[in-house]
Amino acid sequence: MLTADPPLPATVRAEILALAAAELHPRGAAVAALRLVQAHFRWISTPHLREVAELLGMSADDLDGVATYFNLLFRRPVGRHVIMLCDSVSCWIMGRERLCAHLCRTLGVKPGETTADDAITLLPTVCIGHCDHAPAMLVDDTLHGDVDIPTLDRLVAALKEQP
Ligand code: FES
Repeated sequence: MLTADPPLPATVRAEILALAAAELHPRGAAVAALRLVQAHFRWISTPHLREVAELLGMSADDLDGVATYFNLLFRRPVGRHVIMLCDSVSCWIMGRERLCAHLCRTLGVKPGETTADDAITLLPTVCIGHCDHAPAMLVDDTLHGDVDIPTLDRLVAALKEQP
């Protein structure tokens, strides 16, 4: 796993400055800049958040407010893949607890944790707008609906194969 200790690479800093230059105010690039950092490091460490804030002319607290508002921006380390299982009302009604329990057993983690091989992080999430196909979840950037246990098993096996 890439460590978050080194400063942002020069290429990332240059991309952030380019994003900022394209906005009316540099802070308009906040989400895109944070996503860029996450794409490189999987998550946004506090030192990296501070660097981005400085590049965008924002306070670190303001930028942290943006980072923690969006649940697809990770402020803690995650595995190579992230499963976000919806825990809002439609998915509850449609049995997401059974799916969550199965995932926890299969992966050997609790919600919020990452597997020992660093492959998968399991996170709960608020409604992801796929209620008509509840229970629903996001696996990395892909939306899955009408999820059942065979689907989970298939997806987990596929994720474990991927780098
Ligand atoms: S309640 Fe789960 S997708 Fe909306």
